[in-house]
Amino acid sequence: MAKLWGGRFSKLTDALVDDFNSSIRFDARMYAQDIQGSQAHAEMLGRQGIIPKEDAQLIVKTLGEIKADIEAGKVEFMIDAEDIHMNIETILIERIGDVGKRLHTGRSRNDQVALDIRLYLRDEIDNLVLDAEKIKQALLLVAEKNLDTIMPGYTHLQKAQPITLAHHLMAYYEMFKRDKERLLDCRKRLNSMPLGSGALAGTTYPLDRNFVAEKLGFESITVNSLDGVSDRDFVCELAFDLSALMMHLSRLAEEIILWSSHEFSFIELDDAYSTGSSIMPQKKNPDVAELARGKTGRVFGSLMGLLTVMKGLPLAYNKDMQEDKEQIFDAVDTVKMCLPVFANMLTTMTVKRDAMLKGAKGGFTNATDVADYLVKNGLPFRDAHAVVGRMVAYCIEKDTVIDALSMEEFLTFSPLFKEDIYEAISLETCVNQRKLIGGPAIETMRKVIENYKNEN
Ligand code: ARG
Repeated sequence: MAKLWGGRFSKLTDALVDDFNSSIRFDARMYAQDIQGSQAHAEMLGRQGIIPKEDAQLIVKTLGEIKADIEAGKVEFMIDAEDIHMNIETILIERIGDVGKRLHTGRSRNDQVALDIRLYLRDEIDNLVLDAEKIKQALLLVAEKNLDTIMPGYTHLQKAQPITLAHHLMAYYEMFKRDKERLLDCRKRLNSMPLGSGALAGTTYPLDRNFVAEKLGFESITVNSLDGVSDRDFVCELAFDLSALMMHLSRLAEEIILWSSHEFSFIELDDAYSTGSSIMPQKKNPDVAELARGKTGRVFGSLMGLLTVMKGLPLAYNKDMQEDKEQIFDAVDTVKMCLPVFANMLTTMTVKRDAMLKGAKGGFTNATDVADYLVKNGLPFRDAHAVVGRMVAYCIEKDTVIDALSMEEFLTFSPLFKEDIYEAISLETCVNQRKLIGGPAIETMRKVIENYKNEN
């Protein structure tokens, strides 16, 4: 097929080059944004008198018909028309001849693709924001039901201090809240309209860039044409935002996997959200969490891929930049797939409160509170730390826990211990006395959850 740009060539492109060069396999998904952008551009050309008004109207109408035909599966794209931009323009020209040939006036594929990718990612960010909200809501729901579910908190994966499941899950809520904010922030920076940048140096036609920007819902127009066509920061930025989100999801996934192991037995995943083994009849595997953890790798890969494609590229457009699409599309698709299924896995899991409580009772999780008791009764903290350290060693030796020591035994370690020590170091006290903002106390967490519920 003769190319739309074929004028100066005396030979057709080799089929191998067509194949290699073509991006239609993966950029066809931007057809709606390409048409939306072309319609705005055509309308503006008509209004400015750059092309006849009737031509503009016919172009807008025909593009609408092409869109409907694409959606009805009636259009077959051609590899040798290279990309979505030239495929649609070719179809337009097939349908309305010379009028269609006026569409590309004052425009280059370089600013066209910059526009399309912004429009496409803006739509996807809106979807991703909804998905991020889904996981936040799932966490809120499970947390609210587990305000008083005591569990061990860990550092170094060693039991540290008692917390609640609500407190633990709401830590993830904070992460996903930031992730959602980051997406919205990326949307702001992406929301600038590049058409009018031309190939690199702008154009001599009196385009009304602000009209197009307004028509397409952009907040501003790009102010340097070289930057307008060669900026892919927002693609890299989105890939980072998605990587951070997946990094958080993978941490939660890891905990779900640990907690559903026989050794922990803190939770049981719903049958509908687990899988079996083809050989071992007893198995119930946390595949959803594992796959989410695994898919984190490909999203990080996209981020690295994108940064590496952009590294060292001279201004302005370079064909290398066509490589941005598969990377960011894959990252977006992956995150969109992970979030809803993960959210449902969380809301359907069974929490084993007794096992969590039992876990919190072992491992001397109240040792800090024993030391704090002595401090409140006058001992300097470092001395109290040493006293309780000796008590822990004693308990390990006797295979017991601090709460199970007799009053006489307590007194052998310090004369400051009184009967009220038992109450002071019960797990409920340990949790509920940590009531400052940020802490696990039931009342504190209830307020946090209430606030977040009212936000929505
Ligand atoms: N398919 C191309 C891309 O994705 C569109 C821009 C092509 N521009 C050019 N001058 N070859 O980057």
